[in-house]
Amino acid sequence: MPEANATNPPTGTVDMTPLDKAPAPELPNDIIAKERYTDADFMRLEWERMWSKIWLLGCMEQDIPEAGDYVATEIGHESILLVRQADGAVRAFYNVCQHRGNQLRPEGAGHAESFQCAYHHWEYHLDGTFKRIPDSETFPQGTPCTGLEEIPCDTWGSMVWFSLDPDVEPLADFLDMIPAHLDPYQFHKMARDRHVTVEWDCNWKTSVDAFNESYHVQGIHPQLLWHLDDLNIQIDCYERHNRYIIEFATLSPRVNQPPEIPMGIKHLMKEGGMDPADYYGRVKDVRADLQAHKREHAPEQGKDYSRLHDAQLTDDFHYLIFPNVTMNVHADDYWIFRQRPHASDPNKCYFDIWTFNLVPEGEEWPDPPEFKQFRHGDRSIGLVLDQDAANLPGVQKGMNSKGFRGLWIGDQELRIRHFHKVLDDYLYGPGGKPDGAL
Ligand code: FES
Ligand SMILES: [Fe+2]
Repeated sequence: MPEANATNPPTGTVDMTPLDKAPAPELPNDIIAKERYTDADFMRLEWERMWSKIWLLGCMEQDIPEAGDYVATEIGHESILLVRQADGAVRAFYNVCQHRGNQLRPEGAGHAESFQCAYHHWEYHLDGTFKRIPDSETFPQGTPCTGLEEIPCDTWGSMVWFSLDPDVEPLADFLDMIPAHLDPYQFHKMARDRHVTVEWDCNWKTSVDAFNESYHVQGIHPQLLWHLDDLNIQIDCYERHNRYIIEFATLSPRVNQPPEIPMGIKHLMKEGGMDPADYYGRVKDVRADLQAHKREHAPEQGKDYSRLHDAQLTDDFHYLIFPNVTMNVHADDYWIFRQRPHASDPNKCYFDIWTFNLVPEGEEWPDPPEFKQFRHGDRSIGLVLDQDAANLPGVQKGMNSKGFRGLWIGDQELRIRHFHKVLDDYLYGPGGKPDGAL
């Protein structure tokens, strides 16, 4: 496989990631209606005014490196084909035959010289135009259109984005500050090592919320308190997107100083090339020493940290690209969680886990991982995510209870409040939420 995205170097500024704290948004403290997570009419409103109006993450460029490679991705009741063209561009089409509406390809990835519909064999070129219609002379009205219905498609960050809105704003406008923050990580040098979709028993926002605050770490991930500071986090809310920065390789103020370096921190040291057995510093010095060690040894490891701050060599820079792309970003790896709404049930969603590792200079690009899809709880997705997953069906069930009044959000959950404000901007526009609306 060629080095992914050689034709698509990172765009945007070469400056470093801004670290400044964004001004705190002015948001009300009111209760957030639980019906936003359970109501079918609200789900339809989200579809009409939000999902069908914004840019959506479809796949990675490394999924479709060659002309004819495609991904069929689903969002709600729609299925979209993302197709690598002969000229290297990516184009997006509704995944539906113009004859009688048959879906052209099942969800997943593949390679095609053309797209032939299985029903009556209408056939389309990679650019969506008609290639062949059997017995075309028997259609006195001619052909219904020029071919597949095309929709806006663009790339950023080695990711392929599409929109269901033909009049959508440019992707760069939608992404706003995101490229300036994340281009320094050079995602085009990171290869996917995990590709999983789990059907979760909760609303898509219940899942987004679970990654948008650190308050629950002391609740359901107590083991993390021994290698990250869940309390002193920087939360930054921008116009639509938001982030927080969590220091890793340090202790939570919630735990007492241990006599020796905890396992979680030792693990981070080993990942960074340090041998904990040879370390005689204090626990509170590890984070800075690990940063210095990584910076010093980067060249011999084939790594380029020149555009990253020291904090980015250890800490979790955690972004939400509104509404459904959560990113845990580190110097040597990053994770994408993508939540997709179910086609009809507000109590279900699809949770996609894509993880990536930096391929050091001179090393071979690895083969892509096998795609796995399963139901909530059927298989482990790793300890921390299993802890999140085990929790969420109970949250969703509780949201449907008469005994629950709504979401009571605290300062540590500011990003959730900001998220709902942005969602309201889409649903209700500049006039604000009408009285009585959810
Ligand atoms: S529905 Fe596709 S060829 Fe008939
Ligand atoms: Fe969690």
